[in-house]
Amino acid sequence: MVKSISGMSTLAIYNKLFDGFYLSWHKISLLSHLYFVLGACFSGITGYFIILRLLLGIPCLLVLVIYKWSRRHLSMDDKIEEFLQSHNLTPIRYSFKEVKKMSKNFKDKLGEGGYGSVFKGKLRSGHHVAIKLLCTSKGKGQDFINEVASIGRIHHANVTKLIGFCVEGSKQALVYDFMSNGSLDKIIFSEENRNTLGWKKLFDIVIGVARGIDYLHQGCDMQILHFDIKPHNILLGANFNPRISDFGLAKLYAIDESIVSLTAARGTIGYIVPELVYKNLGGISYKADVYSFGMLVLEMVGRRKNLNPFANHTSQIYFPSWIYDRLDQGEDMELGDISDDEKVMIRKMIITAFWCIQLLPSDRPSMNKVLKMLESNVELLKMPPKPFHQLPLETSTEVHSCENSNDEESVLLHNQF
Ligand SMILES: Nc1ncnc2c1ncn2[C@@H]1O[C@H](COP(=O)(O)OP(=O)(O)OP(=O)(O)O)[C@@H](O)[C@H]1O
Ligand SMILES: [Mg+2]
Repeated sequence: MVKSISGMSTLAIYNKLFDGFYLSWHKISLLSHLYFVLGACFSGITGYFIILRLLLGIPCLLVLVIYKWSRRHLSMDDKIEEFLQSHNLTPIRYSFKEVKKMSKNFKDKLGEGGYGSVFKGKLRSGHHVAIKLLCTSKGKGQDFINEVASIGRIHHANVTKLIGFCVEGSKQALVYDFMSNGSLDKIIFSEENRNTLGWKKLFDIVIGVARGIDYLHQGCDMQILHFDIKPHNILLGANFNPRISDFGLAKLYAIDESIVSLTAARGTIGYIVPELVYKNLGGISYKADVYSFGMLVLEMVGRRKNLNPFANHTSQIYFPSWIYDRLDQGEDMELGDISDDEKVMIRKMIITAFWCIQLLPSDRPSMNKVLKMLESNVELLKMPPKPFHQLPLETSTEVHSCENSNDEESVLLHNQF
């Protein structure tokens, strides 16, 4: 057996090999094998340096791969959100955890209404949203989802866009497009902001809102009655373009309930329609929204609430009554320094609004007719009868079924209408 070949000639080694040989090896650990292999490749300081780099590099590489993987997943969600938004498809369902995250734990509260609180939020794509955290609605989870799906199919330039929703047990939320100029009430009822919007802009807002309601009434697959048209529910986008908010919410809450009890609970004082209070005026129909629209327009023209117990003159306490008399008698409406064009717009808005707030629903125009009135020549508009009567009527809380009255002819306008 040869212990070492050092000092042996090539011939002697050859002869020894010719005699035959056997191989043996020791079992070595994986680590020592790694050292052996690496050590064979790199010797000295360079080798240790490379080993160190490998030991530090591999975990870093792993962290990077995991990070990239998770970002890849997120950006896929961004794309889904963007796609659903741009193609006007159904709203996205979010988990409550996601809703909490997008609102930074409900940090920035925008306001509170009859259905719950509204918070500002941001989607992963950077898009700003308003999240309405609902007080629990009467409907079960599945009813809520069905309603949301139908609301989510409604798309119009003058109706707020529902981006998504969340339903997790009793937690329910709706995620809307954020409207950067907030709600109309914050402009027209605020001392410092009320002159932000000129008459032309106000007139455009009135037209936009009329278009939005007309769409809800007859432009989409199902008729949606809003039942809560008021300045707080008119949201203004970047260019003060108006969008109607909270449509469909009445329905969401009305599951298994009658319209009357819903509105008695949810409706807003000052905007409740007469037929809700007085029976024998006719059933509740889309004309209820027409009435609230008329009240809204008068508040926009007056840039004040219609009922103001603190008005300077007692005659001004109920603005619609005061403005009707002035207009009827051809008196100055005390609306400041206005041009002739602005006078025309104001006159159109007031006359149309007075048609809308007629006591009998059958005397009110449809929203489609309202639009025609606003877009017509002012000379063709006739002043309606004064809509405020002493009401010799019985009060009622009875439920009337939704009526689709076809009684436009009673609107006493010129032949064009
Ligand atoms: N999409 C939105 N973008 C920006 N602000 C919003 C949005 N939705 C709601 N807000 C703000 O949140 C406030 C509260 O809205 P919310 O609808 O809860 O109450 P409301 O309109 O005053 O009453 P109601 O419950 O009768 O609708 C609004 O007045 C508005 O300023
Ligand atoms: Mg609202």
